[in-house]
Amino acid sequence: MLYDRNISPGKNQACASCHMPYAAFSGPIPSVNLTMVAFPGTVHLRAGKRTPQRHPYAPFFPVFQYNQVQGLFFGGNFWDSRATGYKLRIPDAEQAQGPPVDTQEMGFPDTACIAFRLSQAVYRPLFEEVWGEGSFDIKFPRETGRICATPGGAAVFGGNTTPVPLSAGDRTRANIVYDRWAQSIDSFEQSVHVSPFSSKFDAFLAGKYTLTPDEMAGFKLFNGKGNCNSCHLDGRGTTLKSDQADTSAAAMMNPLFTCFGSANEGVPLNPGNAFYYQTKPDSYGFIANPYGFGYRDLGLGSFLRSAFGSGPNPNLNWKQYAPTVDGQMQVSSVRDVALAPPQCPTTEAPGPYFQKAFFHNGYFKSLKQVVHFYNTRDKYAYPVTSGHCPKGTTEKVDCWPMPEVRNNIDMTTGNLGLTDEEENQIVAFLQTLSDGFTRPYLNSDTYTGACMKGGSATTQGNEHLIPTPLLPACASAICGVAPIPSPSIP
Ligand code: HEC
Ligand code: HEC
Repeated sequence: MLYDRNISPGKNQACASCHMPYAAFSGPIPSVNLTMVAFPGTVHLRAGKRTPQRHPYAPFFPVFQYNQVQGLFFGGNFWDSRATGYKLRIPDAEQAQGPPVDTQEMGFPDTACIAFRLSQAVYRPLFEEVWGEGSFDIKFPRETGRICATPGGAAVFGGNTTPVPLSAGDRTRANIVYDRWAQSIDSFEQSVHVSPFSSKFDAFLAGKYTLTPDEMAGFKLFNGKGNCNSCHLDGRGTTLKSDQADTSAAAMMNPLFTCFGSANEGVPLNPGNAFYYQTKPDSYGFIANPYGFGYRDLGLGSFLRSAFGSGPNPNLNWKQYAPTVDGQMQVSSVRDVALAPPQCPTTEAPGPYFQKAFFHNGYFKSLKQVVHFYNTRDKYAYPVTSGHCPKGTTEKVDCWPMPEVRNNIDMTTGNLGLTDEEENQIVAFLQTLSDGFTRPYLNSDTYTGACMKGGSATTQGNEHLIPTPLLPACASAICGVAPIPSPSIP
C-alpha cells in the first residue's frame, strides 16, 4: 500500500514518493531536501509545507492528550500532532488518512476514492481476507472514476469534499474501508520491516556491541552537558553539570528517543520552502497558500485553533491552550535520523553523503548544523532573517537568524558550551541510532542516484541560501484566530 501509486488521482504518487526506506522513510530526493524542502504532490506544481517525517517509530506515539498537571500536550503524529488518534485510537493510522486527501500530496477529492481504487487493486483479495469478504459491497456510481481522477481543491468541486454521490450506507462502508486501510498501514509501519530496533545502540544495550570512544563520549554528552535526553529520552538520567555523575541503573525500557511532547526550538524561517511561492491559482484553480510570506508555521498552536495550514482540532477544550504552544513542533525520535543508503553512507559532508533536511522546515542540512544550533543558538543570535547575516559572519557557523516564531522558545539548550569535537561526538552518537546494524534494513539499498561529495558539514548547503524577502505581517487566518498568540506575532 505504501508503494501503490493508484492511491492518487493521477495514479502517479504513492506514500513512498515522499518516504523511501533508504532515507529511513523520509524525503528520498536529495535536491529537494537541499532546496525546496517540501515534496511535490500528485499535481507536481503543488508542494506541501514541511519536511517528510520518518515512518520508523511513529506508530509508538500515544493518543494525543493534555496532561492537566504538567500543563503539556503529549502524543499524536505529524510535526503539529494533528493526527491525534482521537477517533481510531491510533495516531499513526489517522496520520495515514491525511496524505490521500491532502491537496498538496496524493490529493484525492474524496476519501471514498480510496475504497474505490482499492476495490480495483490487485491486492484486493488480501484486503478481503483480513478485513472481510463484504468489505467492498459498495455501489460506486458510474462517474466515480472521473471524480477520483480530478485532484482535490479543483474549482469544479466548489469546496465540496464528498463529491462522490454515495448512499448513506455506502458512505459508511467506504469510511470503514478507509479506516481499515489506515490500520493496515500502521501495522506495517510498526513491524520489524520498518521499526526494527536493529541499531548499533540496540546492540550496545544488549551487550553485543562496544561503542567506540567517540560514540561513548557522544552518548555521555547526549545525556550530560548536551541535555538532549531531557526530550529525546534514552532511559538514563540527565547530568547537566560537569561535576554530576550518573550513578543510576539504566531504566528497563526500549528507548524511543522522544518524550512524545512538543517544543519550539526557535528555528529560523526557511525562505527556500516551496510553500511560500504557491500564491497563484494552478491549472485547476487551486491556491495552496494565498498568504505567501504572510504564512507563519505556528505548529501545535495552529492545530489547536484549527487555523490555516492545520486542523481540525476535535476537542474544543484544548483550544484555550493554543497561546502556550505557538511555535511548538513534535519532539521527533532521533532514531534513524542519520540513516542513509549504504552507497552514500552518511548525511554529513564531505561524504560521499546523502543530502537530507532536518527539522520541520528543513533549515538544517547536516546533523553537525543541528547540534551546533543547539549549542550556540543564543550565543550567535542576530536580529536578521535567513540570508541577511552581517558581513564578517557566516550563517549557521557564527550567525543564527532570529526564530520564525518567538513565542514559547525552549531555553533548555541554546548555549551549551560544547567544543567543536564534542559536537562531532554527539553526531557520532546519533549515527549509532541507525537501524540495519544487527540485520540489514529492508530495501535500504535501492537508491540509484549519485552521492554528493566535498565541502564541510558546518556550511553544507549554504550555497543555496537565498535572502528572505521583507516579511509581511502574519496573515490573520493564522495569527488573528482566537485565542490570539501572546505576545502577538509580527
Ligand atoms: C507529498 C509528499 C508526501 C506523501 C505523498 C506522503 N507523505 Fe507522509 N509526510 C509528508 C510530510 C511533509 C510530513 C510532515 C507533515 C506535517 O507535519 O505537516 C509527513 C508525515 C508523515 C508521518 C508522520 C510521522 C510522525 O512521526 O509523526 C507518517 C507516519 C507518514 N507521513 C506516512 C505517510 C503515509 C503512510 C503516506 C501514504 C498514505 C504518506 N505519508 C504520504 C510528506 C508526504
Ligand atoms: C526541549 C526539548 C528538546 C531538547 C532538549 C532537544 N531537542 Fe532535539 N528536537 C526537539 C524538537 C521539538 C524537535 C523538532 C523541532 C522542529 O522541527 O522544529 C527536535 C529535533 C531534533 C532533531 C531532528 C530530527 C528530524 O527529524 O529532523 C535532531 C537530530 C535532534 N533534535 C537532536 C537533538 C540533540 C543532539 C539535542 C541535544 C544537543 C537535542 N535534540 C535536544 C526537542 C528537543
